[in-house]
Amino acid sequence: MKVRGQHFRTIWLKLEDPNVVQLIDQRFLPHQFVIEEVRTLKQMTTAIRDMHVRGAGLIGVSAGYGMYLAALEAAERGSFDERVSSAATQLKATRPTAVNLSWALARQLETIARGNTADEKVALARRTAEQIADDDVEHCRMIGHHGLKLIQSIASKNAGRPVNVLTHCNAGWLAFVDHGSATAPIYAAHDSGLPVHVWVSETRPRNQGSKLNAWELGEHGVPHTVIADSAAGHLMQHGNVDLIIVGSDRTTYTGDVANKIGTYLKALAAKANDIPFYVALPSSSIDWKMRDGVKQIPIEQRAAEEIKRANGWLDGRHVEVHIAPERSAAANLGFDVTPRHLVTGLITERGICEANETSIFSLFPEHAP
Ligand code: MRU
Repeated sequence: MKVRGQHFRTIWLKLEDPNVVQLIDQRFLPHQFVIEEVRTLKQMTTAIRDMHVRGAGLIGVSAGYGMYLAALEAAERGSFDERVSSAATQLKATRPTAVNLSWALARQLETIARGNTADEKVALARRTAEQIADDDVEHCRMIGHHGLKLIQSIASKNAGRPVNVLTHCNAGWLAFVDHGSATAPIYAAHDSGLPVHVWVSETRPRNQGSKLNAWELGEHGVPHTVIADSAAGHLMQHGNVDLIIVGSDRTTYTGDVANKIGTYLKALAAKANDIPFYVALPSSSIDWKMRDGVKQIPIEQRAAEEIKRANGWLDGRHVEVHIAPERSAAANLGFDVTPRHLVTGLITERGICEANETSIFSLFPEHAP
């Protein structure tokens, strides 16, 4: 997508030195556009854990590049296989909920094992990292293509009134390599000239909505309005939301959807107000082994400080302020699970299906038992 008119991906190999990974450091958005250079496995684990990069797709792609950096290090230091397998363990421990992480690591380990020499293995790791990134772009593009039909169908009944889409957190291009999942149909609609407006829920505590979603929609010229998370129910009740599209960090093969904390409440309000609730996700976010999302999906617990403090930009510098009493405890659950019966449909790279086992396997028969 474009940043001040120039096309960017969220992560790429440095043109002048392909042993270096460059990525957009999202901690500084929307106030500063910072590109970080990542040269080691350690730096990549920090970038994922401390959320320089975040969002399910991008976490997986970053892990893919992390394995390439680990392969470069292993080729130099010896004990190749042990180092690479330990790298996968370290990367896997960075964030627990997004299944794209273990999916990308498994893909890398399987491919690297096919090489005979260290040089061959490094070349395979590089090619796989780039392939994972390219697949991510193509899958998100296709999600946009399929999801566009939903927006077109609503627009055809709206008599020129903009289609109001509500989304949560950032499942935009910043959460992937390009296009995004939840935002891909929105960008496709906007680019095809359909009037579309997005309600951007701020997504406390880290504000991926008000910081990242609002920024990327704004860069692309999509009309949008930032709302407090708790305003969504009111807007739905008063007919101001035509459609909800969210992303997913992990969806079970039975259709239960883990996404940023607060998604479940939006799904409940959507059901109560008869508003279609769609989840946009590439198949790399489907957990083909997990049946019961509510019971089985690991929910990341993050630092209490993220709840008790807020940060932002003041007079040209980054500031953090205290909100809650320092002595109060705070629980910072990163994700929740929306059960399948609240989900109208899943928008994937292969088309739209219902959130149930039969419908999901009909799109992805190679995963059927
Ligand atoms: O904690 P984050 O920012 O990595 O959370 C991920 C998300 O942005 C959302 O849950 C998103 O809707 C799904 S990721 C494509």
